[in-house]
Amino acid sequence: MDKILIEGQKKLSGSIEISGAKNAVLPIMTATLMANGISKISRVPNLRDTRTMIKLMEIVGAKCQFKNGSLEIDGSSVNNPEAPYELVKTMRASFYVLGPLLARFGYVKVSLPGGCAWGPRPVDFHLKGLEKLGAKITLESGYILAEAKKLKGAVINFEFPSVGATGNIVMAASLADGQTIIENAAREPEIVQLCQYLNMMGANISGIGTSHLIIEGVRNLKPANIDVIPDRIEAGTFLVAGALLGEITLKKVIPSHLDSLLLKLKESGCNISLGEDSITISPPETIKAVDMKTSVYPGFATDLQAQWVALMSLAKGSSIITDTVYHDRFSHVPELNRFGANIKIDKNTAFVRGVKELVGAPVMSTDIRASASLIVAGLAAKGETSVSRIYHIDRGYELIEEKFRSLGANIVRKNTNI
Ligand code: UD1
Repeated sequence: MDKILIEGQKKLSGSIEISGAKNAVLPIMTATLMANGISKISRVPNLRDTRTMIKLMEIVGAKCQFKNGSLEIDGSSVNNPEAPYELVKTMRASFYVLGPLLARFGYVKVSLPGGCAWGPRPVDFHLKGLEKLGAKITLESGYILAEAKKLKGAVINFEFPSVGATGNIVMAASLADGQTIIENAAREPEIVQLCQYLNMMGANISGIGTSHLIIEGVRNLKPANIDVIPDRIEAGTFLVAGALLGEITLKKVIPSHLDSLLLKLKESGCNISLGEDSITISPPETIKAVDMKTSVYPGFATDLQAQWVALMSLAKGSSIITDTVYHDRFSHVPELNRFGANIKIDKNTAFVRGVKELVGAPVMSTDIRASASLIVAGLAAKGETSVSRIYHIDRGYELIEEKFRSLGANIVRKNTNI
C-alpha cells in the first residue's frame, strides 16, 4: 500500500502554481454531455476524481481525450444515460450526470451515492428540484430513475444553498421549456463558472453569482471551450502550510476566491500580500488562536475546515471551530490528536487548545480534506510521519508531494507492505 512519508519541520520557501479546480471541472464535464460535438476543457487537473469522471463519460457514450491538462469530450455519441453504482460510490460528484442526461434523453438512471466518511450527505434537494421541473422520480434497487419527456421551467426554492443541487438544476433547466428561477442558489465560484460555461454553450442564465438564478430554457446547447478556474481549496491548503512553515508564493490563483481564509490568516498574525493572480504568505513568530465557523460562499469553506483545525492545533491559545455546512466532518481530529494535538469535539464544534509542538506519528486519512490536514500537520510536526490510505488525497490534489518538495519539504510516496 502506498503511504506518504514525511520528515517534518523543514522550512518552506519558493513558489508553486495552483492547479485547476476539481469542483469546477467535474460539473463542466457533465455539462458537455448536453451538446452534440467536441468541447475542449483546459487546465484540467490530473486527479483520481477527474479520471473517474472520464470513465463515467465513456460509460455513457462520450469520447474523451485527456492529454497535458487538456480534455476533449465529444458528446455526439452519448447514448447510454446510466451511471453505475461502482463509479458513483467512489465519487459522489458522479451525481452531476443526473440533470444533463435527463434534459437530453428524457430519461436517466443514476445510482444513489449513499453515505460517506462524514455523514449521510442526502440528495433530496436534487430530486425535489427535478420533480418541480416535471420529472417523475422512482427508486429501484439502489438506483434513481428520472423520467420527463420534456422538462418544464418552475420556481425552485432550496432549503439550503446546495452546490451540487444548484449545479444539477441549472443544467437541467437550461434545456427545459420556459423559465426556471432558483431561489437560495449556491454562489460558489465553481457554480459561477458552470453557469458561465453553460451560457457559452448557448444557455440563457442570469443572476450568476447571486442566490437568485434565472434560467430561460433553450432548445439546444452547442459545444464550447473553457479554462478551469484555479482550485481555491488546494490554494488554501498551501496557505495554511505557509502559515506554519515559511514564506511561500502561490501563482495562478484568484485571490478574491480566498477572501474569508485570508482574513482569518491575517487575524492569526500571518503576513499576506496579494498580486493580481498570486498570493504570498509569511508566517508570524507565533500563530494566534482564531475562532472560525464554516458557511457557504463567500464564507469560510468547509473544505478548508480540517486544515484550519491543524493550524489552530499549533496556535497560541484556544479556538472554537464550528462546521455549519457538514455537522459530522471531524474524522481528522482523532488523527491530529495522535500528533499530540489537544482537540475535543462536541457535536459540530471542535475545541482546540494550541500546543507548543506536534510530534510525527503514523496516521490514516479518511477523506480528501482530512488527508490534507494530516499532511500539513505532519510537515509541521517534529520527526517522522506516515500517512496511509492516501488514495483519498489523490482524489483532489495534483502532484501534492512534488509541489511540497519543490518548496523544500521532505515528503515522499513509498510503497510499503503494510
Ligand atoms: C460540494 C463539494 C464539496 C463541498 C460541499 C460544500 C463538489 C464536487 N463537492 O459538495 O467539496 O464540501 O460542496 O461546500 O463540488 N444537502 C442536503 N440535501 C441535498 C444536498 C445537500 O441536505 O440534496 C446538504 C448536505 O448534507 C450539506 C449541505 O446541504 O449539509 C451542503 O451540501 P452541498 O452543497 O450539496 O455539497 P456537495 O455539492 O455534495
